[in-house]
Parts: sequence; structure tokens; C-alpha cells
Amino acid sequence: MKIINVVGARPNFVKIAPILEAYKAFPRIIPLLVHTGQHYDPTMSDLFFRQLGIPEPDLNLDVGSGSHATQTADIMKTFEPVVLKQRPDAVLVVGDVNSTIACGLVAAKMGVKLIHVEAGLRSFDRTMPEEINRVLTDALADLLFCTEQSGVDNLLREGVAREKIHLVGNVMIDSLLRHRAHAAQSEILDQLGLEPRRYAVLTLHRPSNVDDPVMLGRLFEAFEIIQRDLPIVFPVHPRARPSLMKALPSDVGRRLPRLKMTGPLGYLDFLKLMDNARLVLTDSGGIQEETTILGVPCLTLRDNTERPATVEFGTNHVVGRNPDAILSAYHRLQPSAPLEQRTSPLWDGHAAERIAERINAMA
Ligand code: UD1
Repeated sequence: MKIINVVGARPNFVKIAPILEAYKAFPRIIPLLVHTGQHYDPTMSDLFFRQLGIPEPDLNLDVGSGSHATQTADIMKTFEPVVLKQRPDAVLVVGDVNSTIACGLVAAKMGVKLIHVEAGLRSFDRTMPEEINRVLTDALADLLFCTEQSGVDNLLREGVAREKIHLVGNVMIDSLLRHRAHAAQSEILDQLGLEPRRYAVLTLHRPSNVDDPVMLGRLFEAFEIIQRDLPIVFPVHPRARPSLMKALPSDVGRRLPRLKMTGPLGYLDFLKLMDNARLVLTDSGGIQEETTILGVPCLTLRDNTERPATVEFGTNHVVGRNPDAILSAYHRLQPSAPLEQRTSPLWDGHAAERIAERINAMA
């Protein structure tokens, strides 16, 4: 059974690594790995392949950056001949990035079975490009693997047949549990002069936050106050850099002396940073789940989340972008050791095995 596995952007790499590993138990499965090239900087791509032990892709489509339409179309145009040539039995896509929907659409139109890992998550916010990618990919998929019960409920409500849906757990957590001990050896805390539980980590990359200078300015009002208590480490995503440079006040160094900006970090350094943080501030999806497993409080700087289980488990607080709301949530957090971990029994490090087993059983 030949399966083309698609990756494009940074979070995809973290999700595909355990799946490729799990296929090894099933000799019937012949996996091919296609990298669309959506993320291409060495720190956004190669470093993740190396640290996560992902084999070299069989093919790199090298599409690079572009508007949504350009990037999606370029991926589709370059992926179609691959499917024509390889004639796979299935195409597997992960997550919700443009590479996910682009390759999903190609497979579905060519009559090739489509498998979606991380199906059913919904923010119910169609201004997010990822929400459109999720809804469309799920509508096309033949086999849908969910991380949490809300995903199953959403799919059933949208009319997806129950037999196509499988609640298997979270492959991003498979990677985290596999690499946590190794990440503990990273020297990133010493390199940045940080002490465990005495700093916060910040990530921002959503267009709704970083492309709007007024929004960025308001967020930085909250960060200015938080960094008086806790140094804030901010690894900057390349898409955030240009707008940050425009939006940040020229006296940022004086006003936020304890804000430490770095370039994008590798998987192991970032995992170590999260694991030892007092607090994480983020607009990412995956980080809400990773902090859940690590027992680290997370303030999500968005108006909604497609991952409600992270809020139910108790580590994640969706606080929006208003500085007063961010600060009041911050002040409500008790200075304490890591929170008691409450998670789904399926976030156990074995989701990829369940996925591979189900794929192997596919007709
Ligand atoms: C993409 C995903 C987003 C995911 C994020 C993880 C979509 C619609 N968005 O957002 O869901 O959370 O990846 O990081 O697919 N750039 C570089 N080097 C790179 C890659 C990007 O400099 O290796 C810069 C370019 O200026 C590019 C911009 O970042 O235009 C945006 O990249 P893109 O892949 O379009 O979206 P992300 O914001 O990374």
C-alpha cells in the first residue's frame, strides 16, 4: 500500500515524525514523503527534520512563500504530477496549513483516498485561513483521525459518516513525549541567562496579531508590564519580523529591557524553554496542546480556540488581545510549581501507532 505523506510547514514536521516511525511495524505500507517547501528556512525546516529524525523527503516541491492563492495553486500544480506518476493508494495530510488543503484537494479530485490527521478541530472563525483549510480538508477526506472528542462531535454535526472518524489522540504529543528527555539536555536556558520557572515564553505569528500594528502595540502594553516580573523570551517567526520592526516603539529596549527576542528556535531548544517556563503566551494552536502535557500555564492571545480540550484540562486560558484582560488573567495565575497534568488518556505517546494500525487495515 503506497502512501504519500505530505508536509509543508513547521508544525507538520512534528506531526509526521511519529507517523513515519509507526509505519515501520507494517511492512505492507510503503510510505513516500513529499515536502511542499512551504517552509524552507533551515531553522524552520531542516533543523526540525534533523532533530525529529525525519528521513530526507523523497520529493521537495520547493513552492516557497506567496499569497494564499498563489501558494495553494503552486502546491496543487506541482503535486498533481507527483500523484499521477506515483499512483499512490492514499495521500495523508496533517494539520491545517495551506499544504494540507492544496494536496488534499489534488488527491480528492484524482480519486485517491485522502487521510486527514488532526481532523475536526474548529475555531468557528472563518477569518482564520486555517479554519477554511480544516473545513475543506475534512469535507474531502475518506479517513479522519481526531485528537479530541470535540473534533468527532464537529465532524458528525457536519454530516461526516461515523465510520470514517477515529479518535486516536495526538501525534504532536507523541513527538513531545519521545523527545522531552533529550530536550532537557539543551543549553538554551544558560545561553539566554534564564532560570527554570522564572521566565515567560512568547510566540506570535497569526496574521490577526502580527499584521496589524495597532494590535501589536496593544499586546506589547501587556508584555511591558509582565516583563517587569518575568523576563520574556520571544523567538520571532519570520512572518512577524517585518511588522514587528514597523510596529515596535523605537524605545522598546528601554521600555521592555527584559524582552529577549531571538530568531526561530529548533524543536529541542523550544521544548526545553516551554518545559521550564513559568508561563507561555501564544497565538499558536499546537503550543496550547504542548503546554497542556507539560503542565505549564498558557495564555492564548486569541478570541477563540479550536482545541477546547486544552481549556477543559485546565492549563490553557483563552484571554483575547485586550491588554487589561491579558494582565488580569496573568495576575490570577498563582506562582506555583507546574500544574497537575490532566489530559486525555489518548494523549499518551501512541497516537501514531493507532493511526498506522488503522491505515494498515484499510481496504
Ligand atoms: C503557516 C500556517 C499556519 C501555521 C504556521 C506555523 C498557513 C495558512 N499557515 O503560517 O497555520 O501555524 O505555518 O509556523 O498555511 N517565511 C520565511 N521562511 C520560511 C517560511 C516562511 O521567511 O521558511 C516567511 C515568509 O515571509 C512568508 C511568511 O513567513 O511569506 C508566511 O509563511 P507561510 O508559510 O505563508 O505562513 P506562516 O505564517 O508560516
